[in-house]
Amino acid sequence: MGRKGREIVGSRIDEIVDDLKVAYCNELMAFHYYWYTSLYMQGIGSLTIAGKFKDSAMEELNHAGMIAERLNQLAAMAPTSPADWANMSIFGNVDPSKYTTLRDAIEKALEMEGLAIVHYNELIKKVKDVDYATYDILQDILVEEVKEEQDLEDILARLELREVEEREEGKEIIEQF
Ligand SMILES: [Fe+2]
Ligand SMILES: [Fe+2]
Repeated sequence: MGRKGREIVGSRIDEIVDDLKVAYCNELMAFHYYWYTSLYMQGIGSLTIAGKFKDSAMEELNHAGMIAERLNQLAAMAPTSPADWANMSIFGNVDPSKYTTLRDAIEKALEMEGLAIVHYNELIKKVKDVDYATYDILQDILVEEVKEEQDLEDILARLELREVEEREEGKEIIEQF
């Protein structure tokens, strides 16, 4: 999209560009979080979840690509330095190596997805009736973030169920002695 494409966005173009840059940083931080935890996750069942996290990493990378493409159309560039990604992201400087147990990894991912959902929701409200192209892209991403959050909640629920079952089994074994 060229000059006209930028023109129709109007006077709020700078604000939208800044918001998209933050969203780009969020996506890259989320990508790295999922990617790293998928490599080092520990605990029973972590192999299956690691596969799911790897898929999530690629999904976040794809979101980053969609946002970068939109920034490009608005004649802006995505933040280039990893230090910026951490500083500009709403997640802060997340260190994935602190969340390598199965439960921690899922809980932190859920927290990040929740923040991302709220953030995208705010941005969508902001660009509505101002920039329809960004509006469309953000909506597509939001739908996927919501699905991701639901999947994580389901995984966590199953994990909790398993932990209860294991505690019950443990009690039975102790009672036998
Ligand atoms: Fe994302
Ligand atoms: Fe996500």
